[in-house]
Amino acid sequence: MVGTAEEKIVSRRIVITGAGGRLGAALAREWSAAGEEVTGFARQELDLSQPEQLRATLEPLDFAVLVNCAAQTNVDRCETHPDEAMQINADAVRVLAEICTKKGARCIQISTDYVFDGAKVGAYTEEDAALPISQYGASKRAGEIALLDISDKHLAVRVSWVFGPDRPSFVDQILQRARTEDSVAAIADKIAVPTYTRDAARLLRPLLFQKPVGGLLHLCNGGQCTWQEYGQFALDCAAEAGMELKARTVGALKMAELKAFIAKRPPNTAMSTDKLASIIGESPRDWREAVREYVRGFVSLSSKGC
Ligand SMILES: NC(=O)c1ccc[n+]([C@@H]2O[C@H](COP(=O)([O-])OP(=O)(O)OC[C@H]3O[C@@H](n4cnc5c(N)ncnc54)[C@H](OP(=O)(O)O)[C@@H]3O)[C@@H](O)[C@H]2O)c1
Repeated sequence: MVGTAEEKIVSRRIVITGAGGRLGAALAREWSAAGEEVTGFARQELDLSQPEQLRATLEPLDFAVLVNCAAQTNVDRCETHPDEAMQINADAVRVLAEICTKKGARCIQISTDYVFDGAKVGAYTEEDAALPISQYGASKRAGEIALLDISDKHLAVRVSWVFGPDRPSFVDQILQRARTEDSVAAIADKIAVPTYTRDAARLLRPLLFQKPVGGLLHLCNGGQCTWQEYGQFALDCAAEAGMELKARTVGALKMAELKAFIAKRPPNTAMSTDKLASIIGESPRDWREAVREYVRGFVSLSSKGC
C-alpha cells in the first residue's frame, strides 16, 4: 500500500545514553552496522546528574526506544558516595522513564547481577528476590523499581561481567598482567557469567521492535565460572593464539583477602537466561566461545602493536 501524507511517520530511532562506555559504545556500533538508526549520547553530551538537561535534550527528540547504558559503575565509589549512586543509577532512571512514557517510547534500562545477595545455590532467575548487599546494587535495584513503577512496558536488562573491545575489563587486565608479570591470580570463590558486548547487542536487538517485552530480563553468555576460571581460560586462549605470556597459570585468591574492596560483593550471581531464550528463540552461546573469539581479536591487535 502506498503511504499517504496523513499517515503518521513512526520513528525507529534508538537513543543510547552512556554511549561512551563499554556496553553503550558496542550497542551503538553494532546496531548502526545492522542498519538501525542510532543516536548515542556520551557523558559529556548528556549528564545523568542533570535532570533538566535530560528533559531539554530528550523531550524534543523523536525516538522509539531509549537504552540507558550510563551508570555509576564503580562499585566501591558507590559505597562511599551513596547519594551520587542513587542520583545516577536510580533518580535519573526515573526521569528517563518519565520522558519515554510521555512520548510513547520504550525505556530499556541496563541493570546488574549485583541486585542479588549471592547466597543462592544455582543460577538466579527473574523470579528470585533482589536483595542487594552494596550501595551499587541497592542503587541499581532502585533504578529497576523506578523504571517499572513508571510503566511495566519498560524493560530492565540485567547483565554481568561485561567485556568487549570498547573499554578494558577483567579479561584485558589479566592478559596484560600475564604478559609482564611472573605470576597472576584471581578470585576463586566468586561465581558469575561473562557477557560479551557483541553478543549482548545481537541478543538484545530483537527486543527493540520485534518483541517489545517489558519487566525484568537476564542477559549474559551461557554457563558460569569463577574469576580464576575466567582468567585461566583467557590465558589459555591467548597462548593458543600465539601470545607470549610470562605467567601461564592463574592462581587462586579468596574474596576476603582482597583488602582493597570497600563494598561487599555477592559470591554467586550466575544468572539463568531461560526467559531470554524463550522470548527470542535462541540461547546465548557459552561464555568460553565468546571469550575465545574476543581474545583472538585482542591477540591479533596486540601483535600489530595496537
Ligand atoms: N561492567 C560490568 O561488568 C557490569 C556488570 C553488571 C552490570 N553492568 C551494567 O552495565 C551497564 C553498562 O556498564 P559498562 O560496563 O558499559 O560500564 P562503563 O564502561 O563504566 O559505562 C558506563 C558509562 O556511563 C557513563 N556515566 C557515568 N556517570 C554518568 C553521568 N552522570 N551521566 C552520563 N553518563 C555517565 C560513564 O562515563 P565515563 O566514560 O565518563 O566514565 C560510562 O561511559 C551499566 O548499567 C552497569 O551498571 C556492568
